[in-house]
Amino acid sequence: MVRMEHLVINGGRKLSGILEIKSAKNSVLPIIACCIMSKEDILIKNSPKISDVNNMLNIIRSIGGKAKFDGNDVYINCREVNPVLVDSNLTGGIRSSIFILGPILGRFRRARISYPGGCDIGLRPIDLHISGLKTLNVDVSEQSGMIVCDGGNLSGGVVNLDFPSVGATENLMMAGVLTKGRTVIRNAAREPEIIDLQNFINFLGGNVAGAGSDTIVVNGVGKLGGGAYNPVSDRIVAGTYLAACAAAGGDVTLTNVKPNTFYSVIEKFARAGFSLKETNSSVRIIASTRPKAIRKIETQPFPGFPTDMQAQMTALLSLADGSSIMVENLFESRFKYTMQLIKMGADITVKDRVAMIKGVKELSPAVLRADDLRGGAALVIAALSAKGVSEIDGLHHIDRGYCKIEDDLKSLGADIVRK
Ligand code: EPZ
Repeated sequence: MVRMEHLVINGGRKLSGILEIKSAKNSVLPIIACCIMSKEDILIKNSPKISDVNNMLNIIRSIGGKAKFDGNDVYINCREVNPVLVDSNLTGGIRSSIFILGPILGRFRRARISYPGGCDIGLRPIDLHISGLKTLNVDVSEQSGMIVCDGGNLSGGVVNLDFPSVGATENLMMAGVLTKGRTVIRNAAREPEIIDLQNFINFLGGNVAGAGSDTIVVNGVGKLGGGAYNPVSDRIVAGTYLAACAAAGGDVTLTNVKPNTFYSVIEKFARAGFSLKETNSSVRIIASTRPKAIRKIETQPFPGFPTDMQAQMTALLSLADGSSIMVENLFESRFKYTMQLIKMGADITVKDRVAMIKGVKELSPAVLRADDLRGGAALVIAALSAKGVSEIDGLHHIDRGYCKIEDDLKSLGADIVRK
């Protein structure tokens, strides 16, 4: 059997240099879906060329829209979109396909999509999306794996989310944009990508306020326009590369970042004993010592420590001088990658949503397998620190959220190739 693409990393080398961070995957994905509600030309600047984005562009094209990369930007025009064309093979593939539900309902008042796919990190239910739409008078039925929505009576309303779900907040924001009346979302998610979606909707002529707080208010407008928009940069990719430098050692500066979108991550590196220098658009980390342990970290909705940095931080703490505890409060099974770290000599015990991490002086290289996006990133971080040659299979998981991760790391001095 031909081996799939994999990474070969000769670790134990320090990283140094400057790297520019691109627009955030978890901002670009809902923004692409939001374009369904406009008939005008839209350009999404500095977009990451990652498979989740390409999959979303395929979904837009499959329903009659124009969508393609134009250099580093994504060009979209949804004038000819026809919702009847939604291809369940495409939407079943990625979690973010659920984001098209709100925009399609907002523009066409009817939608039929398959249940979304996504990473194997938990059940990934969509009950909050569905119950929120029902509160906005959408008739939702689930027929043999398909979600069928009749939005003929879609109207403004007040949705109280049981949990500040990022996706449900975004879907309901978008469902209200072209809907007569006022839609209020309480206990809304407060992530920076939610603020970015509000800014994008308002940039196109919508009327949304409150993103970043726990209450978002959407006043319906008649239509949306077009233009070129620069999404917020990717705080998780930035945090990943800070962790890579912290684990391998060195001196790395990340540009085109907004430190205030990931202070809860930056302060953990400071607590682990690293020196960090920030401007309002860059973060520099200088790593010359073994990380200190951090007694306990719990993942939380924003502004808490993000679940999407849990694996990367655990990989770093597996090298710490002391023991740390990592608690994963967002997803049911987001510690699979620790089995691979244990193959490298890490001393980690996982029980349900808690990982006890007893730091070891160094990890040994190994042949590893990524099972999900951020777990894969954690293996890259570990392999960069381990003296000798590691290999990482399951590269397609990593490619979902990192654009040519080997090129970024090579530019910082890592000995890494895709084979
Ligand atoms: C978004 O996923 C991100 N994905 C995830 O990033 C991120 O981990 C997550 O938010 C939390 O920050 C995108 O933005 C494309 P949620 P989403 O709805 O919207 C439960 C990555 O690595 N829940 O906030 O799916 C759910 O099961 C990815 O880039 C319900 O119970 O996250 C989970 O336990 C991974 N019912 C929790 O809420 C629902 O209807 C958080 O989910 C929806 C969610």
